[in-house]
Amino acid sequence: MGFPARRLRRLRKGESFRALVRENTVSPNNFVLPLFAVPGSNIRRELASLPGNYQLSIDCLVEEALTARDLGIRAVLLFGVPETKDDKASGAYDPRGIVQGAIRALKSHVADVLVITDVCACEYTTNGHCGIIRDGYLDNDASLELITRITVSHAEAGCDMVAPACMLDGQIHAMRQALDSAGFESLPIMAYSAKFASSLYGPFFKEATQSTVSFGDKRTHQMDFSNSDEAMREIALDIEEGADIIMVKPALFYLDVVYRAKQEFKMPLAVYDVSGEYAMIDAAAHLGRLDRDAIMMEALTCMRRAGADIIITYFAKRAAELLHTREMAAFTHRGHEALKEYLAVK
Ligand code: PBG
Ligand code: ZN
Repeated sequence: MGFPARRLRRLRKGESFRALVRENTVSPNNFVLPLFAVPGSNIRRELASLPGNYQLSIDCLVEEALTARDLGIRAVLLFGVPETKDDKASGAYDPRGIVQGAIRALKSHVADVLVITDVCACEYTTNGHCGIIRDGYLDNDASLELITRITVSHAEAGCDMVAPACMLDGQIHAMRQALDSAGFESLPIMAYSAKFASSLYGPFFKEATQSTVSFGDKRTHQMDFSNSDEAMREIALDIEEGADIIMVKPALFYLDVVYRAKQEFKMPLAVYDVSGEYAMIDAAAHLGRLDRDAIMMEALTCMRRAGADIIITYFAKRAAELLHTREMAAFTHRGHEALKEYLAVK
């Protein structure tokens, strides 16, 4: 039975109908806010390519986490930008390192915000690579040792979850073993399982972490963006090795991979809405070509529709703010007027 009995437009007539039958929504509960810790105090350096995001000294980072918490955001993803770098990435596992200090500060001053740490070496190596280089090539098993050392140091500093970003073979297995034998058997792992070698990480490297590869590239460990069957194999292995949460990264160009991952594995699934995705939207909005808030909400909702449970995003604060305003607007029955008023005041 088709037209005229079937008229799908009936349920699109007005926001109340649309809300009633909406299949996917996004909430601050889904967000993880990335934070960049730098040495020093009273430093709050805005990133030109990621406006609204900052390099923060630990005191300011604590404030930022409190702000995030007040907006209903449940977790932050912590990155460190160390004072000095070396070949061995020794700053990455230093108990007095930047991330370890930030973890301790967050855990003692900010209740109810999960502290997730990015586990990789590229912010700490002089050559900008993600582990130990031997003859110009990222040495897998030597790098595993480094990665497990970093992992345990984050756990000892008190983080709530570790997020291995390196795409080494066997890294989840090695980390799980290291954590278990150090007494952290209940600390979960969020694995960057299908991380693609993407040009969308530009602003993250150039500005947020000031890390540049001095030779070669990361295509010997990160995935070829042409592949998606291989992404399923990567994810399956991570699950076998003990990953608690799997991840696809980047998000927007890779929503087919996100969809497949959710369908095939039915695991808690994160996406990383990376720096280049934010920068593209922000730049287009600056030029007046796109409506910043509207495109942001569309992008985030579509990540959920594809199957993401968790969205790591530089939009987290603005999106949470907007979502609360919408909820409030709906609650007071003043609808879009209240929303417009609120946004005008901003
Ligand atoms: C690894 C890491 C990277 C990003 C997050 N974690 C870069 C990489 O290893 O290639 C990129 C995130 C972004 O662009 O927002 N430390
Ligand atoms: Zn890396």
